[in-house]
Amino acid sequence: MTTDSFVLKGDIVYSLDPQRLSCTEGGYLVCDEGLCAGVFAAGELPGRFADLEVRDFCGQLIIPGLVDLHTHAPQFPNRGLGMDLELLDWLDTYTFPEESRYADLTYARLAYEDFVAELMRGATTRAVVFATLHVPATLLLMELLEDTGLSTLVGKLNMDRNSLPTLVERDALASLDATRQWLNAVAERGFRCTAPILTPRFVPSCSDSLLVGLGALQREFGLPVQSHLSENLAEIAWVRELCPDAASYAEAYLRTGLLGGEGCPTIMAHCVYSDPLETPLLKEQGVWIAHCPVSNTCVSSGIAPVRSYLDQGLRVGLGTDVSGGYSLSLLHSMAEAIKVSKLRWRLVDDGLKPLSVAEAFYLATLGGGSFFGKVGSFEPGFCFDAVVLEDIRRPTDSDLDLEARLERLIYADANDRVLGKYVNGQQIL
Ligand code: GUN
Ligand code: FE
Repeated sequence: MTTDSFVLKGDIVYSLDPQRLSCTEGGYLVCDEGLCAGVFAAGELPGRFADLEVRDFCGQLIIPGLVDLHTHAPQFPNRGLGMDLELLDWLDTYTFPEESRYADLTYARLAYEDFVAELMRGATTRAVVFATLHVPATLLLMELLEDTGLSTLVGKLNMDRNSLPTLVERDALASLDATRQWLNAVAERGFRCTAPILTPRFVPSCSDSLLVGLGALQREFGLPVQSHLSENLAEIAWVRELCPDAASYAEAYLRTGLLGGEGCPTIMAHCVYSDPLETPLLKEQGVWIAHCPVSNTCVSSGIAPVRSYLDQGLRVGLGTDVSGGYSLSLLHSMAEAIKVSKLRWRLVDDGLKPLSVAEAFYLATLGGGSFFGKVGSFEPGFCFDAVVLEDIRRPTDSDLDLEARLERLIYADANDRVLGKYVNGQQIL
């Protein structure tokens, strides 16, 4: 066996499905050549693994690496700022000016090094990231992420209308040419754990001909796609004006081939207001919804009906959406997902019961992880992505079981406690 085969010993928690956790105190988690070979209770490690090195994290929590399905690296310097406006004014006033700065590679390096260091510090092992429209800065971000060993998908943005003069591509052709140039540079570079994802910012930023051209590029390169969908009421009204022939916002992506389906794995961030016209399309096309509860509160977008999406069998994961959201911590996002689901249940619709701890944990692991393949679980055959966390136990905590410790961690102890991180069996922290 290679050095990618070893055993972690500790208190192991992972999701079996949205409602059920697997909890094993003092258990063994086996990594066999970069893949999980299962979780075994104390004294039950199969003989075939007896010779493997055991790394003992006695009394510490071991969970699958967390998956951030939606965040914006260039907005990291703006986190926690400018939350007095709603989406469209927030973009014009705070976000577009900040993103304009990434034409300057010196600034981009400073900001992206800071972003990458913060992403490494937390419990995230995989992320799907928006960059800006700038090709050199996007390639720089990909280099910095590659150096960490995190598994990421990164998008050079496409935007050819309705922005500042400092942050817009001349026309659809210029945007498509830059995208092709970026994709060729990425292919030539040959990254190991960093890959491109096609990223039309959202419908108001992209002309019809740009979306059509990106659909063709998607089919040519077989790329995954990410964008924003039905986040804010003014945004949705604007899309209705811009695309009067589309029956729903999602259809404006669908008709250009940028909404899931065979060979086009797609993430749509937010879906706060996806209605009965839109959700069947998301289901049919197998689209992943990136639920971003911190952002949805901070820019006053609303509360996505995640319970309803789970009940309908839609694919849902969690996104931090910095800098609509103020933190790259998915532990914070889990707590927020539960909290806003309670407010929605209390104030809007008492038919949709709040999310549980197990459900929020599922969203941040298996729910989002499935976008990357067999990721987000410790079942045999899954990619070995794991995080070792020190949860602080107090003298009064002696009876806490693993589920309670996970709950405490999510709500109250989510700071600075990552002791180790593994991606595909490689230790990266
Ligand atoms: N819609 C289009 N661009 C953005 C962005 O940068 N952040 C958020 N939250 N929504 C968007
Ligand atoms: Fe976003």
